[in-house]
Amino acid sequence: MNIILLGYPGSGKGTLAKDLFRALDMVHVSTGDILRDEMGKKTPLGLEASSYMAGGRLVPDSLVMEMLKARLGAETRGLLFDGFPRTVAQAEMLDAWFVSRGQEIDSVVFLNVAEDVVMKRLGSRRTCSGCGKIYNVISNPPAREGVCDACGKPLMTREDDRPEVISKRIQVYKDQTEPLLAYYRASGNFLEADGGQAPETVTRSVLGLLRVKP
Ligand code: AP5
Ligand code: MG
Repeated sequence: MNIILLGYPGSGKGTLAKDLFRALDMVHVSTGDILRDEMGKKTPLGLEASSYMAGGRLVPDSLVMEMLKARLGAETRGLLFDGFPRTVAQAEMLDAWFVSRGQEIDSVVFLNVAEDVVMKRLGSRRTCSGCGKIYNVISNPPAREGVCDACGKPLMTREDDRPEVISKRIQVYKDQTEPLLAYYRASGNFLEADGGQAPETVTRSVLGLLRVKP
């Protein structure tokens, strides 16, 4: 099974993906996490991507696609895409890649959340610098302030969660990613969930839409 998660920055794609990939035994493919990893390691790709990401702009399509092909070429498990594709060009490249592998996209899940809600969520997000667990100082704080419950490492604020960059990312989503809703609605495997509910409720309803028992 191959699944795409779509939605605004802050719609909860990463939070949902971390539940789903375990429940469905899939590979969680977050292009944002992979790019941040490359940046942390100061690889040529990471260095090239960093100025785009810090300003809230998209990394060029061809760079992202080459990165994924290199990472996933030998992967045989189902892929759970989080943050990819993000442009119609990326969706077309993914379609062509799947055709060449004899595979297809089984479901596209759109997390529908209002813009003012995602703005608030992003401004209060914290992420573990060790294991990547996602928190929210308002709705999902750690037991000890600034420390990850799961691995004990410090929590950090993502560089692109500054207010001016959040606004830019929202605008980039509307301009470049929202057209994917029409692209995938036409494909016949488009599912829509109310991402404004509590995280456990979102996970349960998406598993229901995918017809998987929790
Ligand atoms: P990426 O890392 O993908 O960021 P994004 O799409 O902007 O999405 P986020 O990770 O910010 O939000 P999310 O939907 O995962 O929400 P989360 O679960 O964390 O991309 C970053 C950058 O990398 C891009 O700007 C671009 O530069 C580059 N990039 C990445 N992919 C690319 C691509 N394919 N092409 C080109 N460039 C690319 O939740 C957010 C907050 O809300 C958290 O605090 C969480 O605790 C809380 N929350 C989550 N769910 C709920 C809920 N149900 N109720 C209440 N709170 C919730
Ligand atoms: Mg994310």
